[in-house]
Amino acid sequence: MENRGNWKSKIGFILAASGSAIGLGNIWRFPSTAGKNGGAIFVLAYIFAIIFVALPVLLAEAGLGRFTQLNPVGAFKKIAPQKKWYLIGFLGIISGVMILSYYSVIAGWTVAYFLKTASHTFSNINAADSENIFSAFLQNWKLQLFFFLIFLLMTAYIISRGIVSGIEKFSKVLMPVLFLLLILLVVFSLTLPGASKGLLFYLKPDISRLSFKLFLEALGQAFFSLSLGMGTMLTYGSYLKKDDNLASSCYYIAFFDTMIALLAGFMIFPAVFSYNMDPAAGPGLVFKTLPVIFSQMPLGTLFGSFFFLLLIIAALTSTISLLEVPVAFFIDEKKWSRKKSTLLFTGIAFLFGIPSALSGAVPFFSKLPLFDIDFISLWDKIWGNLSLGLGALLLAFFVAYIWKAHLAQKEIFIRESFFSKIWYVLIKYVAPVLILIIFLSNIFTQ
Ligand code: TRP
Repeated sequence: MENRGNWKSKIGFILAASGSAIGLGNIWRFPSTAGKNGGAIFVLAYIFAIIFVALPVLLAEAGLGRFTQLNPVGAFKKIAPQKKWYLIGFLGIISGVMILSYYSVIAGWTVAYFLKTASHTFSNINAADSENIFSAFLQNWKLQLFFFLIFLLMTAYIISRGIVSGIEKFSKVLMPVLFLLLILLVVFSLTLPGASKGLLFYLKPDISRLSFKLFLEALGQAFFSLSLGMGTMLTYGSYLKKDDNLASSCYYIAFFDTMIALLAGFMIFPAVFSYNMDPAAGPGLVFKTLPVIFSQMPLGTLFGSFFFLLLIIAALTSTISLLEVPVAFFIDEKKWSRKKSTLLFTGIAFLFGIPSALSGAVPFFSKLPLFDIDFISLWDKIWGNLSLGLGALLLAFFVAYIWKAHLAQKEIFIRESFFSKIWYVLIKYVAPVLILIIFLSNIFTQ
């Protein structure tokens, strides 16, 4: 059998998996969700969700991958042959391609906005100007398709080079660059006049905002951010050698992912408050609110260009992890070459991404009949939310009750410890129940 490949080093795995986790979810979705939900109180709920629900599922998912050394479908088949559990793996693979399709469209926007910022499109504009620039951009479907394709091709190039000289090598370079850029931007943002109002919003919890819904949003965000529920971490775990310390690697991944999300808030909120903008602008925060700030602040062109560059890097290390899942599946199960399977799934992602790229320009896709939302929102709801929720739920259940929690525990932890005992309880009793609740309430809201 052809060698599937292994990570060259422990740090290589940690950086690649952190690269998957750290994405638009951290730098765009986390601050905008926190902003909408009252700031500090959301941050607290989020940290709780990461530690008690998402991290245990990360350990389970990566552990299943390392144990079986296979792609998501193969992994379930190996543990439960002749049973239908492998369908979870299939669902994950389909979700991966579908998330890749709209995620890359948005990633394409970040490239376009990088170029716009660097070429001084945003000079002294107000909120209405910024809104107009963004909606004109969304109308321009040709440009969107172009940047979408560029982004997919960059992703495909890295994936076609394989585990070590593709994913691992690029992650080792891109992740430190991302971190340095982010630190630079945080420091600059904190020195703006009035930055402390932003800090107060971000750090002083307003208990009155605590609600069931806030908690659900925090849990959903935690799963998305750690790339759980579709077999990404399973696939990355399958390239680990048996002698690596899996648990400690996963602690690092969760720690880095959370730290980057928190830092993104430290970059965005001081600037938003310093310029008296609305922290609760939601998804418009990055593409509408921030350009106004960049156009007014000193060194705004530099700050803004760095910011969009940061988003591009974050998105790229995530899109490669999305593409790797179906590609690994075809390499293992269909014995295709890496190049051929990369080509196939890049093509499929491109086709399915077309409606997303058109969703601002074509009235049909801007407001879909029956759903009343645009295509990207619908696709994100179905694949980025419901399907991941279902995937995470079934995976946690599978690991705890089919593979069996005590066997999984032996794979994940080198020896029995305080943490391994806590994990056992969380994966058996806490995670499945909480994920079931998020999943059900997500079906019935919106
Ligand atoms: N975690 C990434 C982010 O925060 C997105 C992502 C990459 C993802 N791969 C995934 C999300 C797999 C869910 C499942 O942007």
